[in-house]
Amino acid sequence: MATLTDAVDLTVTKRHPQIGAEVRGIDLGRPLDRETLDQLNAIWMENPMLVFPGQKITDEQQIVFARNFGELEVHPSVAHRSSRNPEVYRVSNVDEQGNILPSESKEWQYLELTWLWHTDSSFREIPSKGSILHGITVPAEGGDTLFANMYEAYDALSDGTKAQIDGLSVRHSHDAVIARSAKLSARQDKGTFTELPPVEHPLVRRHPVTGRRSLFLSPHTMDGIVGMPDDKAFALLDELTRHATHERFVYRHHWHQDDVIMWDNRCTMHAVMPYDSANQRRIMHRTTIVGDERPTL
Ligand code: OGA
Ligand code: MN
Repeated sequence: MATLTDAVDLTVTKRHPQIGAEVRGIDLGRPLDRETLDQLNAIWMENPMLVFPGQKITDEQQIVFARNFGELEVHPSVAHRSSRNPEVYRVSNVDEQGNILPSESKEWQYLELTWLWHTDSSFREIPSKGSILHGITVPAEGGDTLFANMYEAYDALSDGTKAQIDGLSVRHSHDAVIARSAKLSARQDKGTFTELPPVEHPLVRRHPVTGRRSLFLSPHTMDGIVGMPDDKAFALLDELTRHATHERFVYRHHWHQDDVIMWDNRCTMHAVMPYDSANQRRIMHRTTIVGDERPTL
């Protein structure tokens, strides 16, 4: 296994040639000095998805770690916020009392939408910079998370396709997320959410730090392309999504308890693989870093 970086005792090992790397030699539960943080940031910009194995941290420690990278979002879904720390989003099929959510509950039906490819907070005017997810209880089987590298997906497009899509604007909304679930859409009471107006984002964006271009897709919030008939727009978005989620761009993470994963929402997408959610517990806590600016080409 190749060691890329060894200063400040950090050991970085590639998990996937393009996207995933594992970082050891750091305790995320302790305050980090500027030098370590600078180094971590540099590693993150090279590897849009980092795995930190064996991090037994509390929610409060996760919040302190996440705040090193920016302010934190509060998720629009009220039911999925931690009652102790609203900036903790509970990606969990277990409620705060320890009961498995019934499959017919609106809370589970909303969460089940994480099984679709997306990037976090693409429904916001300023989408999230990055997310940090702590695997607290993980199923023995299933529930792996897939991460796709959207820089590589863009780079691999033909010049003709790049010319066709550079400059297009995509409509995104939080309502579109709910519309993806037939079960949730059919309900009178879909849950309580912070109201967010629809937004438009470029289909190709430039990363503010690395300067690289990437495809900005988030199938569960996308609601059309500005100035294009819907049938044509969705055919194009579907084709781009199929391309971007080809296995050569994707790292599949099998969770171990106390893995912490940190990903860059500005150049990746992710999706959760199905698991036996009626019987297996899967408790993940997410903190979400507020973005610095609107996406631009
Ligand atoms: C998320 C999400 C990933 C997971 O936390 O943003 O989509 O593995 N879930 O549960
Ligand atoms: Mn997500």
